Amino acid sequence: RKSQLEILERKNAEALLGGGHDRVEAQHAKGKLTARERLHLLLDEDSFEEIGKFVMHRSKDFGLDKQYYLGDGVVTGYGTINGRLVYVYSQDFTVLGGSLSETHAEKIVKIMELAMKNGAPLIGLNDSGGARIQEGVVSLGGYADIFYRNTLASGVIPQISAIMGPCAGGAVYSPAITDFVMMVENTSYMFVTGPNVVKTVTHETVTSEELGGASTHSTKSGVTHFSCANEVECINYIKKLLSYIPQNCEDLPPALPYEPAADKNREKLNTIVPENPNQPYDMREVIDGIIDTDSFFEVHKNFGENIVVGFARLGGRSIGIVGNQPAVLAGVLDINASTKAARFVRFCDSFNIPLLVLEDVPGFLPGTDQEWRGIIINGAKLLYAFCEATVPRITVITRKAYGGAYDVMNSKHIGADMNYAWPTAEIAVMGAQGAAEIIFKREIAAADNPGAKLAEKVQEYKDKFATPYRAAHRGFIDEVILPSETRTKLIKAFKMLENKVVKLPRKKHGNIPL
Ligand code: COA
Repeated sequence: RKSQLEILERKNAEALLGGGHDRVEAQHAKGKLTARERLHLLLDEDSFEEIGKFVMHRSKDFGLDKQYYLGDGVVTGYGTINGRLVYVYSQDFTVLGGSLSETHAEKIVKIMELAMKNGAPLIGLNDSGGARIQEGVVSLGGYADIFYRNTLASGVIPQISAIMGPCAGGAVYSPAITDFVMMVENTSYMFVTGPNVVKTVTHETVTSEELGGASTHSTKSGVTHFSCANEVECINYIKKLLSYIPQNCEDLPPALPYEPAADKNREKLNTIVPENPNQPYDMREVIDGIIDTDSFFEVHKNFGENIVVGFARLGGRSIGIVGNQPAVLAGVLDINASTKAARFVRFCDSFNIPLLVLEDVPGFLPGTDQEWRGIIINGAKLLYAFCEATVPRITVITRKAYGGAYDVMNSKHIGADMNYAWPTAEIAVMGAQGAAEIIFKREIAAADNPGAKLAEKVQEYKDKFATPYRAAHRGFIDEVILPSETRTKLIKAFKMLENKVVKLPRKKHGNIPL
């Protein structure tokens, strides 16, 4: 009996060691934590329950019959974060480079299925050299098993991927399908093919960091939603993100206690929009002016910066915010801004998070670059995402709402529930200058003083359309409100909408323009 207990103890101790002391030291020397240290930071104390601790690979090729490690390079299980159940996997780079074998994949699949059946978020901490090369196609099959389940779980449970080391080749496609990707600066990278292959095929010389580091993917490609200074910050971001989102698609996000006393008018909002309509301002100031103090959690902060998206709390309730950003490219919609916002809108809609749109948009970005890369199809993604969203949806037009972009940005016509405008709103087909130049072209050309005529016509157009009142007369705007009362109006309106039910036409699934 004693020896049986000892065997178990020994095996448990062996499993905890991963690839052994030297490899753990090497991991630390790279500025990285081990798989278990990461889980320790992520989960509530003593909440982790491991599943599959003694799993070993089944391969006998290329010397693998002499290299067995309990757990096979990934630590999997469940635990809690702030008391809420989550399923986790954490790849262990100290074991065969965290490479993914058939059994490593089976462990991940097992917890994915538990997460789906039990309706709790899945968090993957990735640190892996990719498919276990010695196993060949079996490990590729393992990846595909994971991708398939990532896709089935999409929209059912939130899925979060943190990249804390290499993530290359096929491995990138699991994080890519999940809802949010976090990367750690300088110690993680993601690419489909590494610098050596790039050099051979395209003759470009590029480092791993330049090709697929956190800063590249958080600014250029948008592959990662969060770029984190270090692993601890990355883990804290995961926890913070979870605080805004529900356990699954049938659940509501956690709400904080609501204190009406904090709801007094926010006078600061009355002075943010400059008198000159061409002068920029920072939409984040408007956001901060409206929401619960310090509750904004920005997503994709450094990508497509002409639109701002993120989570916040309003009266204690979680909301998703999409705001045009007049401080960058005048807040124009381009390909990156459209795809960034569309993905965010679809996440919020999947997981019952009401949407607030703050609108100041002069239109879509003109030019061959945008047209040839498909602004039509990409802008349509945002339009489609709003059209099919059934969560409570409110828009506040702070200034410009021009042209097709007016329709796209959660207009009444595409199913928004409440549309407000500030007195500074200009809701028109285009800016007054451009409009006057087109419709009064002949009159201006024929005038003795064309400059004065143009100015007169611009003013005429402005008086008629550069206001919120035409739209309000039609009911396209439900109310023109003082900026300072926006917060209280929104709290009431979201409360009014909290039991909203919308049934979409029966279909297999829509065909969003991709
Ligand atoms: N399959 C099997 N073993 C792997 C592996 C993989 N995909 N990736 C790494 N390993 C092993 C290494 O052979 C090494 O083992 P050893 O120390 O016993 O020789 C160990 O993991 C650590 O890897 P190492 O290369 O020393 O670490 P590094 O930090 O210098 O480099 C990588 C990390 C990921 C850049 C490098 O390991 C690599 O290029 N791996 C292969 C990537 C790949 O092409 N994967 C398949 C495509 S999906």
